[in-house]
Amino acid sequence: MRKKVIAGNWKMNKDLNESQSLVSGIISGLGNDDKCDVIVCPPFTSLSEVHSLIKDTPVKLGAQNMYFEDSGAFTGEISPLMLKSVGCEYVILGHSERRNIFGETDEVINKKTKKALEKELKVIFCIGESLAQREDGVTNDVVKNQIINGLDGISADDMKNIIIAYEPIWAIGTGKTASPEQAQEVHSFIRGLISEKFSSETAENLIIQYGGSVKPDNASSLLSQPDIDGALVGGACLKADSFLSIIASA
Ligand code: 13P
Repeated sequence: MRKKVIAGNWKMNKDLNESQSLVSGIISGLGNDDKCDVIVCPPFTSLSEVHSLIKDTPVKLGAQNMYFEDSGAFTGEISPLMLKSVGCEYVILGHSERRNIFGETDEVINKKTKKALEKELKVIFCIGESLAQREDGVTNDVVKNQIINGLDGISADDMKNIIIAYEPIWAIGTGKTASPEQAQEVHSFIRGLISEKFSSETAENLIIQYGGSVKPDNASSLLSQPDIDGALVGGACLKADSFLSIIASA
C-alpha cells in the first residue's frame, strides 16, 4: 500500500516573514499526524528558516530547482549540497514553468536528476502535456518522451528516490482540473511505462502525484483514484487552511 504524499510548491511566493507564518500554520494544524507524507517547497530564500521550524515535525523540506554542478562559476545557481546544507530532502525538477519559461530541456532535467540522486536528494520529477498536445491526442507520447529522456541512465534502485508528478500544463493555475478519470488514465499509463522500463515492483512502489488546480473541493475525488498517490499543489498551498484540508482528504 503506497502512502500518499502531498507537496506544496510555493513557487515565487512568500517572503521570509510570510514563509514563517505559513509553515507555522501548517505545523500547528497538522500536529503529529503522519498518515500521509507532507512536503513544503518554499523559495530558496526561506529554506533555512522554514527548516528550523519543521525540523522536529513530520513535515519535510523540498527546493523548487537546483543546478547540476557541485560548485563553481554559475552565477545565480544553487547546488544540491547547498540545498542539503539547509535541510532539504527533496527537490522539484522539470516543472513545466522551468521547461517553458526558462527553456529547460529533457537533457538538462536528466543531468539535474542524476546529480540530485548522486547527492542523496529525492526528486519530484514533473511531466505533463500542453493543451494543444492533449487536443492533438499525443498526451501519452509526450509523457513517455519526458520519462524516457528525463530518466535516461536512472536505475531501478534510483527510482526508490523519485516521485513522478503528472501536471497537465493546461490545468496549472487555470482552475481547470483534469477530471479524476482523465488523471487516472495518464497515471495508469505512466505506471505501465515504469513497469516496462524497470520492473513491476518498481512501478508498484512508485508514488505518482497529480498536480494542476488541486483544491480542497476536488482533492478527495482525485486522490481516491487507484494510481493517484498524492498531489503537488500550487495556489492552494499558499494558505495553511486550504493546504491542510487537502492533506486531510489524503
Ligand atoms: P496550481 O495548483 O496553482 O495549479 O499549480 C500546480 C503546480 O504547478 C504545482 O507544481
